[in-house]
Amino acid sequence: MKARIAPSILSADFSRLSDEISLCIEGGADMIHLDIMDGRFVPNITFGAKVIASVRKLTTLPLDVHMMVEEPERYFETFADAGADGMTIHTEAAPHLQRQLAHIREVGCRAGAAINPGTPLEAVHEVIADLDLLLVMTVNPGFGGQEFIPASLDKVARAKELLDAHRSSATLEVDGGIARDTITAVWRAGADTFVAGNAIFSARDPRAEIGVLRSLCVETA
Ligand code: DX5
Ligand code: ZN
Repeated sequence: MKARIAPSILSADFSRLSDEISLCIEGGADMIHLDIMDGRFVPNITFGAKVIASVRKLTTLPLDVHMMVEEPERYFETFADAGADGMTIHTEAAPHLQRQLAHIREVGCRAGAAINPGTPLEAVHEVIADLDLLLVMTVNPGFGGQEFIPASLDKVARAKELLDAHRSSATLEVDGGIARDTITAVWRAGADTFVAGNAIFSARDPRAEIGVLRSLCVETA
């Protein structure tokens, strides 16, 4: 299996968004990761449907929308209309997780659930069948450029076991602090999709960095 790389445009230069998306396309990105923050679930505020729609016009790559927002269901229809392909909601902001995931599928998108570093994997145990994607956060969400939390490795391994035990084909995604020095271990732990913001957009050659990160996803040293 080939590792999938999902550049997070949180670290992109928004005054040159079109160029930044082009770099991702030319570099062979598998999808574009869009971080929606509401200033409530996380302290930061980013963007909403308008930017999703703008990015939609710039690429045919899947748009992987990560919703760090309270009451995410308020935005499912709008984001789907704006061009989202997948929407990932946080278990910590989803008291009716099963219904909310089903709702994402109803609007025609892939349904994802995210768990913060402090949230046990048990939070998704009962909804594996409703998941197209499981996102294990490897930093506390809210900002780009944070350091990977080492304890996440064991959690990713257990997440992989959990999905396999349920014969789930859900994507296992990680987000936060993914860079040259961390990606190999997370790949070996079982993740298949890697969000990277700072590592790509702060690289001297962002286009090449996508390939470099993917090439580091190898089984053995
Ligand atoms: C963090 C966001 C991430 C962020 C990752 O709250 O969900 O997607 O952009 O940034 P890096 O790769 O810089 O840690
Ligand atoms: Zn994200």
